[in-house]
Parts: sequence; C-alpha cells; structure tokens
Amino acid sequence: MTEATQKPDVPENIVLVGFMGSGKSTVGRLLARRLRFRFLDTDKLVEERAHLRISEIFEKHGEADFRGRETAALTSLCGIRQHIIATGGGIVTVPENIPLLRSLGLVVLLTAEPDEIYRRVSRNSERPLLQVEDPRRRVLDLMASRLPSYEAAAHFRLDSTRLQHVDVTEKIVEEAHRFFHWPQSMRA
Ligand code: S3P
Repeated sequence: MTEATQKPDVPENIVLVGFMGSGKSTVGRLLARRLRFRFLDTDKLVEERAHLRISEIFEKHGEADFRGRETAALTSLCGIRQHIIATGGGIVTVPENIPLLRSLGLVVLLTAEPDEIYRRVSRNSERPLLQVEDPRRRVLDLMASRLPSYEAAAHFRLDSTRLQHVDVTEKIVEEAHRFFHWPQSMRA
C-alpha cells in the first residue's frame, strides 16, 4: 500500500474494497449520503446486466464467467466522478482489475477480524463461495490468500472490527479530504 496521495489525474470517487462482510455496502451508502455522491455497487451492476442473481450466475455459468462480468462492469465505470463504489469481495483476484480500481479514485480497504467477518457473513446464506462444508475455514483461507491483492489495490486501510459504521464513514471522509485536497469548508 502506498501513501494516500492523490495523483492529479485521479477522479473524485471513493472505491471500497474488502472481504465479504467487511461493510462495503453499508458504509458506502452512508458515505454517499454524507458527501452527496452517488452510490454504485459492482455486484448490483453485474446482476442488473445479467438479469440474474449472483448465486445464479455462479450456478449456471461458474466463477470465471462471473469474474468476466465483474471486470466488464468495472471497466464501464471509467470516466465517472463523485461516486462511492462498493465492490464485490473477490474483485482484486483478477490482476487487471487493480489498476482499474486505482484509476477510479481513492481506494479504501475495509478489514475486520476473521471471527467478526465470519459472524457477519454467516447471517446470509446467499454467498456462493461459502456454500462449502467448512465455511469458516473457507473464510480464513480466502482472506489470507487475498490480502496481498487487497493491499496492492488500496491507498488506505481501515479496520472496522470495533467501530460503528458511522465512525468508519467519518474516518474515510477525513482521508478523502487529504487525498483529494478538499477545502475545510467541505467537512461539515
Ligand atoms: C465474492 C463476494 C461477493 C460477490 C460474489 C463473490 C467474493 O460480494 O461478488 O459472491 O469472491 O468474495 P460481497 O463482498 O459484496 O459479498
């Protein structure tokens, strides 16, 4: 992860990456409201374009097909500004997605301790990658194998384990001020 210093050509968007259950969608919606930006979710874009739920895409076409659709959705976002973009937890597993993510704006990695992640994701049985005999082991293995890619994508990392979503949101707003060199008057 590099210093969170904005390159002059990076548009004003905030991209949230992180494992399933790290809070990307909830925090993303709060951030959008707070900054008066629009909210987008790459999982939703894929579902809308495919007219299928993610679980159905995995079932009918497999993970590689889903990854192709996810990269296509990400590529289609090139040129947008003033958006908060929540991404699917595996978006960083496709190497070409990493420069695409970074070209969209400030990339924030949301993390949480594995037990907390497991607690959050086990409330929802829809996630296809966790439909295995030992989902806890799967969470631990996937988290460990993906960490280097999350770190390569992100400008800034934030652990949400013991934080409320609103506090996570405020910390990201502060970081965005530094990254985009926003004036103090935008803080309210
Ligand atoms: C995935 C995470 C999911 C979704 C798909 C695959 C992953 O998104 O993209 O089920 O590989 O970690 P969330 O992180 O929003 O659950």
